[in-house]
Amino acid sequence: MTDYIPNPQIAVLDTGGQYTHLIARKVRELGVYADVLPSETPASELRGRRGLIISGGPSSVYEEGSPTVDPEIFGAGMAVLGICYGQQLMAKFLGGEVQRGEKGEYGLATLDLADGAAGPLFVEAAGRQQIWMSHRDTVKKAPVGFDVVGTTETCSIAAIAAPDRRLFGVQFHPEVVHTKHGRQILSNFLFDVAGCTQDWDPRHRTPLVEQRIREVVGDRNVFFFVSGGVDSTVAFTLCLRALGEKRVSGYYVDTGLMREEETAYVRDLFGALGTRNFSIEEAGPQFLGALAGVSDPEAKRKIIGTQFVEVQDRILRTGHFLEGNWILGQGTIYPDTIESGGTARADLIKTHHNRVAGIQKLIDEGRIVEPLTYFYKDEVREIGRELGIPDEFLDRHPFPGPGLGIRCLCSAEGGEAPVQTPDGWILPVRSVGVQGDSRTYRPVLAIEGGSLHQRAVELINRIGEINRVVARVATAVPVGEMRLQVGELSQERLDRLRRVDAIVRRISVDTGFEAKVWQFPVITIPLGTAEAPDSVVLRPVESVDGMTAQAVSIPAAVMAEMTAELMTVSGICGVFLDLTHKPPGTIEWE
Ligand code: XMP
Repeated sequence: MTDYIPNPQIAVLDTGGQYTHLIARKVRELGVYADVLPSETPASELRGRRGLIISGGPSSVYEEGSPTVDPEIFGAGMAVLGICYGQQLMAKFLGGEVQRGEKGEYGLATLDLADGAAGPLFVEAAGRQQIWMSHRDTVKKAPVGFDVVGTTETCSIAAIAAPDRRLFGVQFHPEVVHTKHGRQILSNFLFDVAGCTQDWDPRHRTPLVEQRIREVVGDRNVFFFVSGGVDSTVAFTLCLRALGEKRVSGYYVDTGLMREEETAYVRDLFGALGTRNFSIEEAGPQFLGALAGVSDPEAKRKIIGTQFVEVQDRILRTGHFLEGNWILGQGTIYPDTIESGGTARADLIKTHHNRVAGIQKLIDEGRIVEPLTYFYKDEVREIGRELGIPDEFLDRHPFPGPGLGIRCLCSAEGGEAPVQTPDGWILPVRSVGVQGDSRTYRPVLAIEGGSLHQRAVELINRIGEINRVVARVATAVPVGEMRLQVGELSQERLDRLRRVDAIVRRISVDTGFEAKVWQFPVITIPLGTAEAPDSVVLRPVESVDGMTAQAVSIPAAVMAEMTAELMTVSGICGVFLDLTHKPPGTIEWE
């Protein structure tokens, strides 16, 4: 088999933190191949690595069952950098002490370095500097033989070093952009401390990946369920290049829950990529039929999932994909192969596909090719560019599988009025949120005035019964005169959502706003009048991976243009802007 991936020089040891993958991505961006391994990986299995980075994580080092590392790694000759919880583990194992924090320190801080003695990690990163912290516990006593080389006002041990042993720890997060010299610090660790060489550029891997596809597939043919998303499209294109257009087939399911012109766009794109065998399964009526009269968000999701399974099963049967010389292609990427926050290596397949019995059979028989399992999303985009896939497609925002089905809110009942409170109107519309560890389903508060994101946070903390705050932008009648309307996932309501979504998207693209946000869901809620039964909610967010998100403002001129056009759409009564971060809101409304 072709060695299409280099031996990793760096292992990122995962202690369950949300930034573990970000560390590995940053290392790779610096041109050094890194992988993510369970933190407990024995030192004997890490031999040959030039360096290890222990990630941050949410636990406390003295807590029963908290993630740990093999202490042998500290004396095995490899350079080690402990970040946050990683630094605390170093302290615990090497004769220091960790103190349970009373309250956490989250956000920006200023790091002061030891005068002229901060050591190799801070070369060209000297002086007082902005860093980003996210921790509760702190190192109280540095490990034996370590120097404290950095402090902040509230954290007296913010950076430690034992340069002769090539061991370093930092309480702050060099991997996030808010740490001014974060990239330089990581670069110093890789090249000056660990002695890494640059060996990684995903674009150069393309011919090797194609070679690997030919080896895995042999003389069989490959079929894909493509979604119109980046991963499945790039994986498909790699197979197309590796095997030729006769041996690769793509199936796209039109659920009737797609955005305006989406199906035609995907068909044209695959045509332009040189696909010969591309089929569109028109399943809109089947999905809408099954969803008729359903308004509960969980029930909608379940039905959409079940319909997907049915359609995929049907395609497997009619295409005879289980019998013949076929194997399944999938666009699984690197983070999908690692259990989130966990230490166990996950099954290589996204769970939603496992529910299709036929697909599970193919997987069990090893009849599967997944060309992207070693790559991060940004790297998949780089490969896509190398393959000639247009930027406009590769840079599209993420779009959820259940599509507009979770952006068109429904209600089985009508007539309920908004309730006025000293803070604004509590709307008779509930949306999904995340508070603590659980999902909530609560009403929305509408307030007057512009982008009051900070006020939204205060209001949600204070008013227990809501999980989301929106600003009223424009309404055809006063909010107090709007009523909850009966509304299901009908063709008419979906078409209305498609219309308003297309208007928002066109204006966002034209004004450059689209490129400034991570995702921009447009939602319709069944709130209005008999003549204009729906209102629009705009939900632009900034995010790294969708796990957490910040609601962002829309520039006034862009907002004015959108609102003016949205209010002319038949059936639309109002426009609101979602001010809620995640948590406590989710990105989607469902
Ligand atoms: P929430 O609403 O949970 O969404 O904050 C986080 C991110 O996940 C996307 N999302 C989905 N993506 N299938 C997907 O492929 C789904 O069922 C699904 N639900 C939510 C959402 O668009 C956001 O980017």
